[in-house]
Amino acid sequence: MPVSNKDAQHLLQVQNLEKRYVRASTVSQREEVTALRGVSLSILPQVTLALVGESGSGKSTLARCVACLDKPTSGTIRFGSDELTKVNEKDLRAIRPKIQLVFQDPANSLNPRWTAFDIVSEPFVIQQRFSNQERRERTFALLESVGLSSQKASQRPAEFSGGQRQRLAIARALALEPQLLILDEALSALDCSIQAQIVNLLFELQSSLGLSYLFITHDFAMAAHVSDEIVVMDHGQIVETGPTERIARSPKHPVTQRLMTAATASQVLPRELQAV
Ligand SMILES: Nc1ncnc2c1ncn2[C@@H]1O[C@H](COP(=O)(O)OP(=O)(O)OP(=O)(O)O)[C@@H](O)[C@H]1O
Ligand SMILES: [Mg+2]
Repeated sequence: MPVSNKDAQHLLQVQNLEKRYVRASTVSQREEVTALRGVSLSILPQVTLALVGESGSGKSTLARCVACLDKPTSGTIRFGSDELTKVNEKDLRAIRPKIQLVFQDPANSLNPRWTAFDIVSEPFVIQQRFSNQERRERTFALLESVGLSSQKASQRPAEFSGGQRQRLAIARALALEPQLLILDEALSALDCSIQAQIVNLLFELQSSLGLSYLFITHDFAMAAHVSDEIVVMDHGQIVETGPTERIARSPKHPVTQRLMTAATASQVLPRELQAV
């Protein structure tokens, strides 16, 4: 299908995505779960889209499909000019680094025996990029960019706090020079003050590196704080979408209203109003 000029500006375009899982409900019965149904959304470069919804609404399933960790049942995912559901494995290997996923608990995704330096520099080693000296310099610069001093480079994940581990996971994701960072409840386990520090870090990285974020949370206040646009999901479907300011001021769908009520009213302010 030809790509129009408007579509060509999008970094990510998801169209009519459907994902069904089959799971064994009893020994003899198989039950089909539709985790995503007719999901369409798009993200422009350097924009933060927050994906909000209650538990089980399909947020992580969408994240996994976009990050090519799971295959959708039908629908299309276009990243830049590539159609992810159609490209071959070789091309997919080249695209994958550009879409990075950071999870809630980085302890599970960081090798406990490795130092921070090993963890952040591994992508360079795998991709056989740069000389040893350049790898060192880039690794220290990445650690520095997420606020971890080079003295911490020899520490192992267990020696870091939760917030520092999350910074480490972000530094590792950045080593692959992604264009899209998916943060799946990445800040949910952290204290408010640490959340605020990492949100500031994400804003800084967005403006210095031109990143787009798909920010997944069940916390509407957090979504309103960090995003330019909000997508609300319920039972695998998008029920409301639009600019954050509009949705935060006048949520239309009952699910959005419920999520908003669950957040403290005073916290639900769009980014520009929080800055003053
Ligand atoms: N691998 C799987 N096999 C079977 N069903 C699955 C699988 N992964 C997800 N599901 C189902 O798909 C639905 C959506 O799950 P998903 O994890 O995407 O929700 P979520 O919005 O991320 O929830 P949470 O906020 O709790 O993380 C749920 O009903 C879940 O049970
Ligand atoms: Mg999830």
